[in-house]
Amino acid sequence: MSQLKACLFDLDGVVVDTAQFHYAAWKSLANQLGFDLTPEQNEQLKGVSRMESLDIILEIGNVKLDEGTKQRMAAEKNQHYLELCQQMTPEDVLPGVRDFMDQLVAASIKIGLGSASKNARLILAHINMLDRFATIVDGTRITKGKPDPETFLLGAQDLGVEPTDCVVFEDAVAGIQAAKNGGMVAVGVGDPAVLAGSNLVITGFEDLSLATIQYLFE
Ligand code: BG6
Ligand code: MG
Repeated sequence: MSQLKACLFDLDGVVVDTAQFHYAAWKSLANQLGFDLTPEQNEQLKGVSRMESLDIILEIGNVKLDEGTKQRMAAEKNQHYLELCQQMTPEDVLPGVRDFMDQLVAASIKIGLGSASKNARLILAHINMLDRFATIVDGTRITKGKPDPETFLLGAQDLGVEPTDCVVFEDAVAGIQAAKNGGMVAVGVGDPAVLAGSNLVITGFEDLSLATIQYLFE
């Protein structure tokens, strides 16, 4: 029988509200190319790697670019994104996240990070949370992005737990699919209408008790 032994957290939009900065930077790139990016279209980009996101955006705008230009645009977007992140402080960790992690530590439940971002360590350092995670799986370690389960399977392996004993917290459709594809319990953080397929959807970590999550294993 499965038992809650580890929690794997996505980073952007789950631990810290960097999802808004990714969106702002992509939107400004789209605007530069002569079209707009709606919040609905942005949902397709969440959890998806930088280059794949650019491909989706170019398809939305029906714009074709050569490989060199794409690399340059992705680098520009990243620079803009990192500039926006400069305004972030440890105060910007999403409400309730630290308290919820304290509950996990008290119950000896392991904590890992599973993010598509190549900036994950940098962001975690910025918000002073690097030492909260027993393992960090980020965009520099994976070969297949979400919805492939590789990110979370690697996390479970690092933590020495079975995938079925893990809960994944995700704000992205692709991330929920990755968790399910890996045989894990998936908790959506955000809008239930968007995150269909989750075992549970929460609006945030504020007042989330460990018992609510443990209940998903009964
Ligand atoms: C994911 C974000 O966490 O990381 C995506 O949801 C982003 O929006 C992806 O594109 C890659 O991030 P980065 O920081 O490597 O460009
Ligand atoms: Mg995310």
